[in-house]
Amino acid sequence: MRISLLGKFQLFVLIFIVNNSYAANTIKEHHKESGLSCDDCHISKPFESVETGQCLTCHELPERKTDYHQKPDKHDSPHYGPSLDCENCHFEHEESVNFCNDCHEFNFKIP
Ligand code: HEC
Ligand code: HEC
Ligand code: HEC
Ligand code: HEC
Repeated sequence: MRISLLGKFQLFVLIFIVNNSYAANTIKEHHKESGLSCDDCHISKPFESVETGQCLTCHELPERKTDYHQKPDKHDSPHYGPSLDCENCHFEHEESVNFCNDCHEFNFKIP
């Protein structure tokens, strides 16, 4: 069978998309339990990274809720205030990352 150049390109794109969405098929338990689906976060298609503003359509953070955190407040730190993008710490499709520990040794776990 002869695959045209265009055909090869489409095949490549298809494999790329399938690969990507397999890796991203699992979402965090807290979001699964709340019944979130892909397009609650991915408002553009094909899937692109998710802006902080999209998280804030459901989560009121951080100004209005600083008191529920243990010190130091990760959502309102002395360096960045409340302006740090969520994706510095909270990953949706993989283990979250303790960004502050690039420099500190804080012992907190990020959901
Ligand atoms: C709670 C919000 C949320 C939900 C729900 C969600 N995603 Fe994501 N997705 C993200 C974020 C944030 C990223 C950026 C990387 C990361 O945090 O892991 C991302 C990255 C991706 C990427 C990689 C895009 C890129 O350009 O890096 C793909 C593909 C993707 N998600 C697919 C899906 C699929 C498929 C579903 C449904 C099963 C889904 N996502 C559900 C938030 C979400
Ligand atoms: C469509 C609404 C919606 C969007 C968009 C959304 N979330 Fe959520 N999220 C929820 C709900 C509902 C819960 C479960 C109830 C709760 O803990 O607030 C939750 C829970 C969480 C939790 C865990 C709370 C805990 O107590 O452990 C984190 C962390 C979180 N979301 C971060 C994010 C981030 C980061 C984004 C953007 C990538 C995002 N959410 C986008 C609705 C949303
Ligand atoms: C510097 C890392 C960091 C960044 C950036 C960050 N978070 Fe968090 N987040 C945490 C940690 C750590 C927790 C666990 C609670 C704690 O230890 O105070 C948490 C908890 C949460 C929770 C659970 C609510 C609760 O009562 O604990 C939600 C929802 C959440 N983050 C949403 C967000 C959103 C939305 C953004 C972006 C606007 C964001 N976070 C940015 C580290 C971060
Ligand atoms: C690039 C390195 C770096 C990162 C990343 C970083 N810090 Fe710091 N932080 C420092 C240094 C250096 C100091 C000590 C100098 C100072 O006080 O400004 C410090 C001091 C602090 C202090 C004590 C100073 C005060 O004003 O109270 C707190 C609290 C703190 N950091 C919290 C955080 C939190 C929370 C995060 C993550 C959101 C974070 N830091 C991320 C480098 C960093």
